Amino acid sequence: MKITPSLLAYTDWLKFDGLLRVLDKCSINGLHVDIMDGHFVPNLAFGPDLVRSIAMHTSYPLDLHLMINCLDILLDHYLRINPRIIIFHPEACTNVIPYIENIKKTNIQVGFAIHPDYPIEETKPFWHIVDRLLIMTVYPGFSGQAMLAQNLEKVMYAKSQNYKGECWVDGGVTFERFEELKKYGVDGVVMGNSFFSTLLECTIRI
Ligand code: DX5
Ligand code: ZN
Repeated sequence: MKITPSLLAYTDWLKFDGLLRVLDKCSINGLHVDIMDGHFVPNLAFGPDLVRSIAMHTSYPLDLHLMINCLDILLDHYLRINPRIIIFHPEACTNVIPYIENIKKTNIQVGFAIHPDYPIEETKPFWHIVDRLLIMTVYPGFSGQAMLAQNLEKVMYAKSQNYKGECWVDGGVTFERFEELKKYGVDGVVMGNSFFSTLLECTIRI
């Protein structure tokens, strides 16, 4: 199972440099950065300057999860940071195609985040150009929520309909759930609260 910790769940910002050094020793697949504008979701997190700084101080690829309405204004800033993938919510824009094309022409992968209330069927016409589906198992905005496990059916749906990209799950994932997630065919997980509680228990000092 591929694991990317969600940095949103780590709040001791003055020790962030130490955290990045500890993460460098972990077997993780990348870092998940939740970007929030206070409008699309009721929380604020990670502007472009902070994300650029994180990119400079880690060897891991960055997966940017945009929970913002203002894609027009901000997308270019995040493209210039050269993350591995930019994941956005299709309902955040009226036409997803220009954004997908804009991301793809820079050789950055593109992903769709599927809100718990968003019907995954509506994303099907774009599956051939979308590298990853990020199935949200919490309402976006905060880490530390309990998983809404009924959304895992969306992974099964995408796999059964022959979606060729990867299906990841974001929200309330715990290590105890890994076997269950594998049965659904999940390729990777985002882990916030559960990852950092375990890491902090295992690590001498960050
Ligand atoms: C929620 C974010 C998630 C969240 C995951 O809006 O997209 O990435 O930080 O954190 P946990 O694992 O604590 O739910
Ligand atoms: Zn996320």
